[in-house]
Amino acid sequence: MKIVIVIPTYNEADNIGRLTDVLQQEFLKRPKHDFHILVVEGNSPDGTANIVREKMKVYPNLHLLMEKVKAGLGAAYVYGFKEAMNGMRADVVVEMDADFQHDPKDVVRLIDEIEKGYDYVVGSRFTKGGSIPEEWAFKRKFFSVGGNIFSKFVLGIFNVNDFTSGFKASRVKGFVDRLPLDTILSQGFAYKIDLLFKMHRLGAKIKEVPIKFGLRDRGDSKMEKNNMTDSLRVVVTLRYNENKNFVRFLVVGGIGFIVDAGLFNILRIGILSSRSAALASGFTAMIVTFLLNNYWSFGERKIDGTKKKVLGFVVYIVSSSIPIAVRSRLVGFSVNTFGDTTLVSNTAFLIGIIFGLIWNFTVYSKIIWKGDKK
Ligand code: GDD
Ligand code: MN
Repeated sequence: MKIVIVIPTYNEADNIGRLTDVLQQEFLKRPKHDFHILVVEGNSPDGTANIVREKMKVYPNLHLLMEKVKAGLGAAYVYGFKEAMNGMRADVVVEMDADFQHDPKDVVRLIDEIEKGYDYVVGSRFTKGGSIPEEWAFKRKFFSVGGNIFSKFVLGIFNVNDFTSGFKASRVKGFVDRLPLDTILSQGFAYKIDLLFKMHRLGAKIKEVPIKFGLRDRGDSKMEKNNMTDSLRVVVTLRYNENKNFVRFLVVGGIGFIVDAGLFNILRIGILSSRSAALASGFTAMIVTFLLNNYWSFGERKIDGTKKKVLGFVVYIVSSSIPIAVRSRLVGFSVNTFGDTTLVSNTAFLIGIIFGLIWNFTVYSKIIWKGDKK
């Protein structure tokens, strides 16, 4: 297998030379693989690139990509992944820090799992046997652990405990080559959550290997100040994108409900019997929600073409009329039996709405907007 270890650097002059030496020793442990190192240099002012160039004279498997300007960790990895895949034809790409926080001895442990058939091997700090530095301030520990638990539940990925690990190995064929690298959700550190989520959705077999995340050897952390909020944004965006239709459906439903319930009460107090009021408000709300759903909720699968539009609308009217008619009868029956009070009529009205909601969501998404993709 051809394995490319992508190492982004920014001001790592004190570390990168030593790291390449140590990694070369590690490569000797798995002689059947073809190991390469690809440094993605963020135009460091401290001469990191020159150190890499010196080492390249000694190691033919060491490569350097120069970014014009430092553009964030996500941007650096996208640049590196593309070169590793397209230029170098890698079978496996590894993400790793330059500062010895990731133990070079763990590289072969990650690779061994890829060989066993896993597609995405995560060096995990939060699985049994893994750890973060004791020395870290409580605040950093808290946000690191808390952020991971939050991501796990919001994203619904339960076989991963470390969503932001910077040390991992990914299979290229079928996985990295199918990632939407040009549209990653963050140019910064939070890109990791985005790509992990998308690897999971691609059906990658994921394995966590415990790692002890060390202290930085020399130099300073480059994590952005806004990393917390950026990560939060990425997690929420991923969830929203998955459930866009459902979220929008709820919003439309809310508007429909206000129109429906408002009109119902105005009409029954004013001019109509409760039973007729439920019918009139139901039909009005139906038209409003149809328009909103068609142009917004299910927007990407909007019914278009006049013939289809008319047909879709007819089916919609017929199917939505059923719960409205049922509700109107329920309201009529209830007020006749228990008396025409606000409480009785509105209770019956609400029960009718719940029935209608279940009915409509099923019909809308399964039949009318079922998404006959062109
Ligand atoms: N080219 C480039 N451009 N490299 C960068 C940039 C950038 O904008 N920002 C950081 N780097 C390099 C650093 O030089 C280092 O080699 C690596 O990327 C990771 O940066 P660190 O500054 O060492 O990050 P950290 O140790 O604070 O964060 C670690 O933990 C995070 C999760 O808690 C890393 O492992 C992260 O990858 C991880 O997400
Ligand atoms: Mn680091």
